[in-house]
Amino acid sequence: MRILSGIQPSGEPHLGNYFAAMRQHVAYQEAHEAIYFLADYHSMTTLRDAAERRHFTLDLAIDYLAAGLDPARAILYRQSDLPILCELAWILTTVTPMGLLERAHSYKDKIAAGVAIDHGLFAYPVLMAADILIYNPDRVPVGQDQKQHLEMTRDIAQRFNHTYECEVFKLPDPDILEDVAVVPGTDGRKMSKSYGNTIRMFASQKELKKSVMGIVTDSTPVEEGKDTSSAVFQLWALFADEDERKRYFAAAEAGGVGYGDVKKDLLKRLLEFFGPMRERREELLARPDEVEDALRDGVARARGLAEPVLEAAREAAGLGRAP
Ligand code: ADP
Ligand code: TRP
Repeated sequence: MRILSGIQPSGEPHLGNYFAAMRQHVAYQEAHEAIYFLADYHSMTTLRDAAERRHFTLDLAIDYLAAGLDPARAILYRQSDLPILCELAWILTTVTPMGLLERAHSYKDKIAAGVAIDHGLFAYPVLMAADILIYNPDRVPVGQDQKQHLEMTRDIAQRFNHTYECEVFKLPDPDILEDVAVVPGTDGRKMSKSYGNTIRMFASQKELKKSVMGIVTDSTPVEEGKDTSSAVFQLWALFADEDERKRYFAAAEAGGVGYGDVKKDLLKRLLEFFGPMRERREELLARPDEVEDALRDGVARARGLAEPVLEAAREAAGLGRAP
């Protein structure tokens, strides 16, 4: 099966990003043909600082490699290293109805918030369709928030095929990571960069300690039973297996487990879990050339898969010399 997904370089990953997205992405490389890219073109719709974009993009590549992405198996590339995506985006733009784009939640939300909209943001779903359709992937694993974008991709693919009476594009199946529980942040709400309640995977030990000790808990005394659906227990459970979780939760619900101890154990587990990744990350930070080599190799492989599909689309649409 061919898997494709894109990740926006928008700041340092946190536990929500890791457990809900990165971990799955890395796991797919075992049994599937996995293609991932760092969506720096997409980031242009929100981030206007060139140096920051460069930095975030390379950093995200390093984080993925540190998290176990093996560039010898999965393809990892930087979106802007494959500018033919922009050609396909243009081709697709010409079969995309305005009404379809006007219905996009991301666009409507921005309008509602009074944000000045540029054409890039409006056309974002078309570039996303190009990112996907250029590989004819079987599955596109994304979070719930991207569901509508995938429906639009299917719609755009269908319109192209219909317009030019061809079957150049396959309709990809969404692979919505719905079963992945929402990872709570330190304040109990969904962990998110925009809430400032994150625990960053690669934060310093000192910062991690501060984040973990700062997880909001209620004032239930040690000897009383605890509510194990609360953030601190749910975060702890990310680092435990099913048996351990059952035993620990039963003990906590019966009383006698203090929040301080849960936090200490959570911190210990967290450091252990991410320790090897952190070391790998330090190594990669010191060797950015190695990361660039992986991206260069990745884009060469991606181009090999993408070019024939673009060529088929050009031919179907009567672009370029007659074959
Ligand atoms: P943020 O909300 O911090 O800006 P992103 O929107 O960049 O995070 O999310 C990147 C990926 O991580 C998406 O696939 C999203 O579904 C997933 N994700 C982010 N936060 C959480 C969370 N708290 N729980 C589960 N998944 C999450
Ligand atoms: N829009 C996605 C996000 O914000 C990122 C993305 C861009 C993407 N192109 C894609 C995801 C293609 C999957 C496939 O998370």
